[in-house]
Amino acid sequence: PTTIRLAVIAGDGIGPEVVAEAEKVLDAATAGRGIRFDKTRFSLGAARYLETGETLTDEDLEAIRGHDAILLGAVGGVPGDPRLKDANIERGLLLKLRFELDHYVNLRPSKLYPGAPGPLAEPGAIDFVVVREGTEGPYVGNGGSIRRGTPHEVANETSVNTAFGIERVVRYAFDLAERRRNKLTLVHKTNVLVHAGGMWQRIVDAVAAEHPGVAVDYLHVDAATIFLVTNPDRFDVIVTDNLFGDILTDLAGAVTGGIGLAASGNINPDGAFPSMFEPVHGSAPDIAGQGIADPTAAILSVALLLDHLGLRDEAASVTRAAEDDIAARDGSSRSTAQIGDAVAARLQA
Ligand code: NAD
Ligand code: IPM
Ligand code: MN
Repeated sequence: PTTIRLAVIAGDGIGPEVVAEAEKVLDAATAGRGIRFDKTRFSLGAARYLETGETLTDEDLEAIRGHDAILLGAVGGVPGDPRLKDANIERGLLLKLRFELDHYVNLRPSKLYPGAPGPLAEPGAIDFVVVREGTEGPYVGNGGSIRRGTPHEVANETSVNTAFGIERVVRYAFDLAERRRNKLTLVHKTNVLVHAGGMWQRIVDAVAAEHPGVAVDYLHVDAATIFLVTNPDRFDVIVTDNLFGDILTDLAGAVTGGIGLAASGNINPDGAFPSMFEPVHGSAPDIAGQGIADPTAAILSVALLLDHLGLRDEAASVTRAAEDDIAARDGSSRSTAQIGDAVAARLQA
């Protein structure tokens, strides 16, 4: 039997609630198929910080590095909680994992599943993937401030963009477009961010020349938000920078039936480091502890995880079970566990 070493970071808020259901589904999808998940649970996040003062130790990172894949729920406390100011869980934990494990592709598929409660009257067939750059841009942390506490305070966050970093994610996006509907849209803000945007555009143009079968277009990010609402069926693969991709994918989640359905993978395509799979959403402190979070995003993240590990049939069956569960929804509310049980039951059927 194949043994897969899986690091599980349930995290904070609804993280542990949705991860429990995702694990149920993972187990149901792989039971009796000669696949064994050797799981290590890592207690990481705001709760651990408040208890121990630790965010992500070198030992944690090294231990996680030794796994084949990572399943993450969500980390972070209530936005603005003063006790977490110095922890900066987002930078010190989540982004640290993405950077240290070189997750340069942040893969965020958006599909309007039949029956999903989307907000659009005439949505058309929404089925696109945002390939969000995961290791650069304004997320790098290349900034600083001076004269704090004076009226002349200055605060800078520099967006870091490298030719190497852009080219590798752009190549991934073109390859993906070729496996899909041969359409790629670069989203940036080249009219204002002329240096970074200009380099993104030049690299896309150069790589496009090697992929004559892929139709390429470009949208400024502000216009892209319009089309994501008015005409989302025009998109196939969107390639974009780290911050634009963050914003676009919450919007994409909203137009395809809610953030509770949006899955993602932080991929290291080279396979040098474990890739990490997580819902697009956060720890949702406003609904944590109530057992009402939708675990579908976490479940669909498990499908991305299985696919990444080459377990294509198992991945497809998880996606199908989640899709069927969505299609069967009748508007009555179900608990987190009821949804997880229902999806797992479809896999056992
Ligand atoms: P959020 O995604 O946690 O919540 C936004 C809204 O969506 C809330 O109303 C929430 O109830 C709802 N929601 C989210 N997931 C849901 C689900 N599965 N089912 C039903 N409703 C759901 O975003 P936020 O409030 O901006 O952030 C809360 C915390 O999470 C912050 O500390 C933030 O930094 C962190 N965060 C972490 C991750 C991550 O771990 N990957 C991602 C985003 C935000
Ligand atoms: C996401 C989150 C993270 C991001 C935060 C919590 C650092 O919003 O995964 O989309 O901005 O990437
Ligand atoms: Mn986000």
